[in-house]
Amino acid sequence: INCQSKKMNNIYPIFDKMLTRDDKEALLGQHGLMVWFTGLSGSGKSTIAIALERELQKRGLLCRILDGDNIRSGINNNLGFSPEDRVENIRRIAEVGKLFVDTGIITIAAFISPNNQLREMASRIIGKDDFMEVYVSTPIEECERRDVKGLYAKARRGEIKEFTGISAPFEAPESPALSLDTSKLSLEESVNRLLELILPRVKSN
Ligand code: PPS
Repeated sequence: INCQSKKMNNIYPIFDKMLTRDDKEALLGQHGLMVWFTGLSGSGKSTIAIALERELQKRGLLCRILDGDNIRSGINNNLGFSPEDRVENIRRIAEVGKLFVDTGIITIAAFISPNNQLREMASRIIGKDDFMEVYVSTPIEECERRDVKGLYAKARRGEIKEFTGISAPFEAPESPALSLDTSKLSLEESVNRLLELILPRVKSN
């Protein structure tokens, strides 16, 4: 419900007193933004997200990372990796992310989000002006070579069904704000490219 609509204000005058996103952004001295990483398992999404958050915090900017560790283990712990569950996973993440963005917080989401439809849904929920899509484009050969969690090997043996890139599809984004191939770029270079795009959008004048 938009509690700040005229009608609501007439019925419940208290809503007039509700603080707005602008009030919160003024308090923090920054603008909210969703930085949405997409890419294969092991592509480097979380590593970049963590390094980016550090650099933004150093510059006095408040961030919140959303990733598998804090979302799939908690609010989404009833979801698996079927196409339907991936939709619900991303829908909830986008709704939660929107709350952070509307509080003026730079929100960094690191999920495979394997197709355009899912990412478009996230962008629609959050609002496209607040949504920056970043493709961590590390090739699957490199992700599989790293196999940080041993999941690619399991997927190849058929022990994990519907594994993205092996037995479930991954669709690359069509026009991301930025692509970062971590087999070619250092972590520092990736973060610097992100900062160039993000800082002008989140700093208050
Ligand atoms: S999705 O597609 O956006 O809903 O996936 P996400 O929430 O990002 O979760 C991906 C992490 O879950 C682990 N995992 C799998 N990934 C893909 N397919 C299958 N079947 C699967 N099963 C478990 C995997 O470790 C992913 O971790 P990351 O951090 O991406 O490497």
